[in-house]
Amino acid sequence: PWANYEMAPLDPIIGLTEQYNQDSFPQKVIVGVGAYRDDGGKPYILPCVREAEDRLFKKHLDMEYSGIAGDANFVEESLKFGYGEDCVALQENRVQGVQALSGTGGLRVMGELLRKNGHRHIYVPNPTWGNHKAIFTNAGLEVKTYAYYDAESSSLDFDSLVKDLKDIPSGSAVLLHACAHNPTGMDPTMDQWKEISSICKERGLLPFFDMAYQGFASGCAATDAAALRMFVDEGHLVCTIQSFSKNFGLYGHRVGTLSVVGATEEEAQKVVSQLKLVIRPMYSNPPRHGARIVQTILSDPMLREDWEVQCAGMAARINTMRTVLRERLSAVGSSRNWNHITKQIGMFAFSGLSKEQVMKMREKHHVYCTLDGRISMAGVTSGNADYIAEAIHDVSK
Ligand code: LMR
Repeated sequence: PWANYEMAPLDPIIGLTEQYNQDSFPQKVIVGVGAYRDDGGKPYILPCVREAEDRLFKKHLDMEYSGIAGDANFVEESLKFGYGEDCVALQENRVQGVQALSGTGGLRVMGELLRKNGHRHIYVPNPTWGNHKAIFTNAGLEVKTYAYYDAESSSLDFDSLVKDLKDIPSGSAVLLHACAHNPTGMDPTMDQWKEISSICKERGLLPFFDMAYQGFASGCAATDAAALRMFVDEGHLVCTIQSFSKNFGLYGHRVGTLSVVGATEEEAQKVVSQLKLVIRPMYSNPPRHGARIVQTILSDPMLREDWEVQCAGMAARINTMRTVLRERLSAVGSSRNWNHITKQIGMFAFSGLSKEQVMKMREKHHVYCTLDGRISMAGVTSGNADYIAEAIHDVSK
């Protein structure tokens, strides 16, 4: 039965790690997938996560199925974390959600619900996270793009973005990266967000926030959620994905939340009831452990404070590495302008390297970044920054 099956290509992000693992070159470097590393290049488990795990272990909790919508206590804490405790819509119970399998799972479930309810397409920024297109296509939506980035100046192309948003058919869903845009690392300013909000209102668009880096971009959870919170304050009935992969370092535990803001509590509850209809035949119910960890941290003021410090520490190390990489690039003699490396925020530097340069860097220097030239700054360390800078310079001079 399998004779006609062809070997599928490797995933452009996760598949890169497979390629890297097979490389025996001693100085090889991976700056592909967005996963935080400490300065020694090792995965980092936040001490607050370890503490929460210890507490959970001592409780000897059961391992029963979760409900279809997941752990209600986790969802409640997660919504307060994302929307802010003072959010009026939240206080009026108009924000309702379900536990999701991190960002990807939540995006897929929401995509499917939108399609079931008459949406034919969704608009995403150009460029966007590599997986967005496949997620929404597989959910049955046609993926269209709006302008976002000017590669020439390595900055946000706000004029084109505004122009494109104004042309989007009313009622359409528009995916917005809440902070730390992946892959460009360039976010709109708060004034620009306000303009985007006005256009969404005029055009009757459905803002769909993908928030995968809350706390990770600026080091402050409230700052990184400011755009989402402003939209909700302005009365938008948004949907939102929150991922706890990066900010809590819970990558493999698949912890996230998918929520909507309704005009009334009942309206939001109806949407959640529909989300459950999508989830049940898809994966039945979400895993428990990671959600329990996040819930333990967010509901304990001391652990929450520890999280803030530890998450800010990750963001700070990345920012230091931005400066280091830029300095090393000029130290090795690169005359190109690398200012964007320190202007960008979040996990990635959108280097501007071409596909050919990326391939050359992989083949000649064994430095692995994605084909679009995105470098995971979380993989840059004091130990490998020189080597990476030399490799970048060699392929870009
Ligand atoms: C990334 O963009 O590297 C991360 O969001 C991980 C992933 O799943 O692609």
